[in-house]
Amino acid sequence: MRKKVVAGNWKMNLGFEEAEELIEELIDLLEKEDIKPDVIICPPYPYLEMASDYAQEARFKVGAQNICPFESGAYTGEVSASMLSSMEVTHCIIGHSERRKYFGEDDKMLTAKVNMALIHGITPIFCVGESLPERESEKHFEIVRRQVRHGLFHLDTNEFAKVIIAYEPVWAIGTGITASPAQAAEMHAYIRTLIVERYGEAPAEETIILYGGSCTSKNAAELFAQPGVDGGLVGGASLIADEFVAICKQA
Ligand code: PGA
Repeated sequence: MRKKVVAGNWKMNLGFEEAEELIEELIDLLEKEDIKPDVIICPPYPYLEMASDYAQEARFKVGAQNICPFESGAYTGEVSASMLSSMEVTHCIIGHSERRKYFGEDDKMLTAKVNMALIHGITPIFCVGESLPERESEKHFEIVRRQVRHGLFHLDTNEFAKVIIAYEPVWAIGTGITASPAQAAEMHAYIRTLIVERYGEAPAEETIILYGGSCTSKNAAELFAQPGVDGGLVGGASLIADEFVAICKQA
């Protein structure tokens, strides 16, 4: 039985004090509610240690939004996997469409990031998803197939079992336009068939696949109820404590 997961991607938002306030509000709300899924918050790098300290006593885990593909050394501005794991960071978003688009992250780099995370015991939350023109030209399956294969299918079965996948159609991210529950279910099922082909039925059944893209407390229940949708990767709505917790409650 797959565990449900809700992860909050804070992106490049909030000052330090606002971040700490949000964490304190989350702790309060999560304590009061009967929350079933694993909850992960992914604040910006400078807040990870603070978030991790709080997480020791809280109902959430902490993820990073990025990771360096190299082990250590002369990589100015980068943060390594071993630094993250030394701060008890348990997860890392890899391959988000904003990283692919604005920072030119290609399949080769993403593969190296996935490997580095796994070496250091960090769970990759590996994002895939097509753009609007790609969906309109009915290339969405092809695009997602390529992203999943190139980013993850070099892993052996044991390593692959440690990965979470997030399907995030680019046209749904930050736009207020959500994929319909049927579109999400269809793509999640498709990703699972790719995993069956590569790793077999049992690993495919075990793989957690999240939906991301304009997920809110209004649409989460219906999305999370779809077969094969194991929770969400939430951007904007993860910056408001009661909204994020309301989403967590629906998983
Ligand atoms: P959104 O972002 O929920 O603000 O659309 C999701 C994401 O980019 O992970």
